[in-house]
Amino acid sequence: MNIHSEKILILDFGSQTTQLIARRIREQKVYSEIHPYTLPLEKIKAMQPKGIVLSGGPASVYDEDAPLSDPALFDLGIPVLGICYGAQLMTQQLGGKVERALKREFGKSDLEIKYSGGIFAGLETGSSQYQVWMSHGDRIEALPAGFAASAVSEHSPHAAIRHQDQKLVGVQFHPEVAHTLIGTDVLRNFIFGLCGCEPNWTMHNFVETTVQGIRDKVGQGKVICALSGGVDSSVTAALVHKAIGDQLTCIYVNNGLMRTGETASLMRYFREKTRLNVIDIDAEDYFLDRLEGIVDPEEKRKRIGYGFIKIFEEEAGKLGDVKYLAQGTLYPDVIESVSFRGGAVIKSHHNVGGLPERMKLTLIEPLRELFKDEVRELGLELGLPEEAIYRQPFPGPGLGIRIMGEVSRERLHILRQADVIVLEEMKKSGYYRKVWQSFAVLLPIQTVGVMGDERTYENVIALRAVDSVDAMTADWSRLPYDLLGRISNRIINEVRGVNRVVFDISSKPPSTIEWE
Ligand code: XMP
Repeated sequence: MNIHSEKILILDFGSQTTQLIARRIREQKVYSEIHPYTLPLEKIKAMQPKGIVLSGGPASVYDEDAPLSDPALFDLGIPVLGICYGAQLMTQQLGGKVERALKREFGKSDLEIKYSGGIFAGLETGSSQYQVWMSHGDRIEALPAGFAASAVSEHSPHAAIRHQDQKLVGVQFHPEVAHTLIGTDVLRNFIFGLCGCEPNWTMHNFVETTVQGIRDKVGQGKVICALSGGVDSSVTAALVHKAIGDQLTCIYVNNGLMRTGETASLMRYFREKTRLNVIDIDAEDYFLDRLEGIVDPEEKRKRIGYGFIKIFEEEAGKLGDVKYLAQGTLYPDVIESVSFRGGAVIKSHHNVGGLPERMKLTLIEPLRELFKDEVRELGLELGLPEEAIYRQPFPGPGLGIRIMGEVSRERLHILRQADVIVLEEMKKSGYYRKVWQSFAVLLPIQTVGVMGDERTYENVIALRAVDSVDAMTADWSRLPYDLLGRISNRIINEVRGVNRVVFDISSKPPSTIEWE
């Protein structure tokens, strides 16, 4: 669905912060899209971007197998902003020189602006020092013809560069990260000043164009939607319902891996407040039977993902002539699934990787272009209740990936009780909405404890709480000790089968948010 008349194209060279670039640009109400650096020139031209950003990346431009874009990119007359690796690539491809720096620059650095136009419009030159964030081991030694340095830092004589006649600019620092205090100015100057974009990427416009797009695609066809109770599927359902009304039937599959009461309130909302058609299917036995004896996390994910699709297909069959499946896949799911320069698939996402190859239904994924915070904004625009919008993310495979090893009814029963306590205490203390996710994980290893005068030998619950903006990176939440204490006390006292609670203090990377 290509519904955006104006866009900034971001070519990804493998940086950890490529997604942030896209988000920062969208925050300025300009649509931006990430593609691998291998995107052919013809496709780039066909997209007619108003501007192109070359991301950072881990390689060095002088490496033999360095990722290169088509140098003809710089002749299209489209403004280009190179960031870090992107700036070095621009330099090298246009005839300048990049070499390994004697002093690598990582972290905060002070920038002195030499030219206060272009991407630095509105900022001061001279001795004013602006804090920026660097992360590079190479530096630009000689500029290509027609270029000049527009800023310097202690170790970079060419910390920012610009072509004097064409709209080609490069920065050694990362304008997309929060530590670069002038990052927003730089991006705004690029997209509005150099590229001439209009700030018209708003949720209101998105709803209008997407609703029309869904109508065009579906015609009179019938659509089913997997309603899980989470934000993504709820917003998808509301959006598709707005577009095609009764042609949509939602299916809620109880896979036996949901939290206690997770969906009840949402179902009530959809049934009572909207005229959405929802079918409940109890498939607990089906899923739990298929998970019996399965310990491998990927295998668990695949079985759960496959089971979902199979059940949808069966239900679709019963409904008659259904052709489409609406699903709340988000942009990070799509990008993460692209295996990039040998990048490993860390976890097969339930929404993408678990799909059987021969799916009988055509997918409708109206949120495919959105980040999570945009989905929340969209939900509010569509009138969903705040409680549903600000629900923490919950993975498709549910509690199945929060029980290490085999999933059984007994283990699910233990985890659910602990989970309810975590949720209650997080909400009561106000931390539920302050953190990105908070939940209990069952470690079915037994440890020794003492209760009353009895020796116990029972399971461990790990408490996971993380702060994040997009789940790509995360840090463990510094929850107050007394909150941790209350959660621990309550779990050990109230949940039979648990005699120890531990708190996970790992960040992502290198750990992931979910334990499997
Ligand atoms: P990880 O564990 O990879 O998780 O750090 C990142 C975010 O994604 C959620 N997650 C999933 N969401 N289907 C989903 O819809 C999945 O299969 C899945 N696996 C993980 C996780 O809860 C976190 O928010």
